[in-house]
Amino acid sequence: MTRIGIILGSTRPNRNGEQVAKWVHDIAVSRTDAEFELVDLRDYPLPHLDEPLPPTMGQYQNEHTKKWAEKIASFDGFVFVTPEYNHSTSGVLKNAIDYLYTEWNNKAAGFVSYGGVGGARAVEHLRLVAGELQMADVRQQVALSLMTEFENFSVLKPGEYNVQAVGTLLDQVVAWSDALAPLRAPAA
Ligand SMILES: Cc1cc2nc3c(=O)[nH]c(=O)nc-3n(C[C@H](O)[C@H](O)[C@H](O)COP(=O)(O)O)c2cc1C
Repeated sequence: MTRIGIILGSTRPNRNGEQVAKWVHDIAVSRTDAEFELVDLRDYPLPHLDEPLPPTMGQYQNEHTKKWAEKIASFDGFVFVTPEYNHSTSGVLKNAIDYLYTEWNNKAAGFVSYGGVGGARAVEHLRLVAGELQMADVRQQVALSLMTEFENFSVLKPGEYNVQAVGTLLDQVVAWSDALAPLRAPAA
């Protein structure tokens, strides 16, 4: 069964990201074409990158890196749930991404963002990062404005349009995760 990780890219107290990631996960688990798991970066506390060798070499020394690598390696594709911080993604998500390399390669990536303008600028940065990691980023994006999709900027009340957009995004992530499977097969 295809496995998709939904990565919650915010760890701060009072984060809005938890509601967003749980909403995506709740929609996802009603599907039968893949398994979906919510991955909360709070459960993978990573210091600022502290591996002595570049991630492209895959020779991880630290237990926290090995645990993170094992989790990410178990997926075929991802939905990144990202806030917008200073016109980019969160530092904690970028740091978690930087820790690994092969574990991201040849997998699909979709983005759900939120912020003043729906987190659109955070996702533009993440798409550049995805390219370097040999990830296939799907076109559909879910961008939740704090002004219209949240009450008091803090209670998620997504419109029907965005529920449908999550469905399309998951369609695309699962399809590309499956299509890239031959590239992920271990070399003979
Ligand atoms: C450090 C920081 C920087 C932010 N910068 C932006 C920004 O550049 N653009 C924007 O639209 N919202 C910005 N915001 C608002 C966040 O997108 C909003 O607070 C969101 O809920 C943060 O996600 P979180 O609650 O899951 O941490 C910023 C918030 C923080 C904490």
